[in-house]
Amino acid sequence: MVSARSLSNVMHHSNAMENLAMKPSITVACLGGGPGSDVLGVLDYFMKYMAGFEGQLNIHLYDREGKWGPCWESLKTAIKAELHDDRVAVSFHDFDVTIATADKNKPDLENADLITMHYFMEEVFSERGKTNVVECFKHIVQTAKPGALFLYSGMYMYQVINWVHQLLGDKCKLKPTTGPLKREVSKYYKEEFKWISRIKVNLNEEEDLDLELFDDIKEDLETKYDRMEVTYRYNGDVVYRLYQKYK
Ligand SMILES: C[S@@+](CC[C@H](N)C(=O)[O-])C[C@H]1O[C@@H](n2cnc3c(N)ncnc32)[C@H](O)[C@@H]1O
Repeated sequence: MVSARSLSNVMHHSNAMENLAMKPSITVACLGGGPGSDVLGVLDYFMKYMAGFEGQLNIHLYDREGKWGPCWESLKTAIKAELHDDRVAVSFHDFDVTIATADKNKPDLENADLITMHYFMEEVFSERGKTNVVECFKHIVQTAKPGALFLYSGMYMYQVINWVHQLLGDKCKLKPTTGPLKREVSKYYKEEFKWISRIKVNLNEEEDLDLELFDDIKEDLETKYDRMEVTYRYNGDVVYRLYQKYK
């Protein structure tokens, strides 16, 4: 599982939280947040970069309970035992973009200041055409509050970057990032997508990341995908884009 530290790094490099530090409370929702890795990523970010934050921090993780339920229970117990801070509240929600019931694919994001999607959109990309998936993302974008931030990050895949832009582009502004932008010249890109931010994850820090991650699909990657895209993936580059819903 791709680690928490890369989410913490992406939050830092994207400056996602720069105008939130003075708020009395901050709510972060992690879509496809996994076994709890994204909760750890958000906590890591706050410990490293927001140590002076004195308000309440609410973290909501959304993923499929059937897959991660037992991990969530363990993490809840560990957080209770280790994190002696009443100002942090963590909750886990059963969420499936493909299942059309009010409680499964209609997450309650109205209070979220930041909605993360870390290594999540590429996971559901192949299902993007299904009615339930379309409805789910429509609901998410519509019900997010004005000014809410969407932080999309993950594997370097042109098609996914374009899809995310299609989903968010109309209702949100793509925020400029402060880091050096890389110009991508690719037949896959339309003009407005040519400036993309990415950071390198230090694979030595990612103890849980299998360094031979792509070996089984190496041939496919090299013959069917754009050369630069594949190079970035091998390098462990994380692409990220920060959007803000129009006020
Ligand atoms: C690659 S993992 C990333 C997890 C975490 N964000 C991280 O970076 O460690 C993708 C996550 O998407 C979730 N996922 C896949 N399909 C989903 C669906 N249809 N609805 C909700 N979550 C889904 C998986 O359960 C998994 O936790």
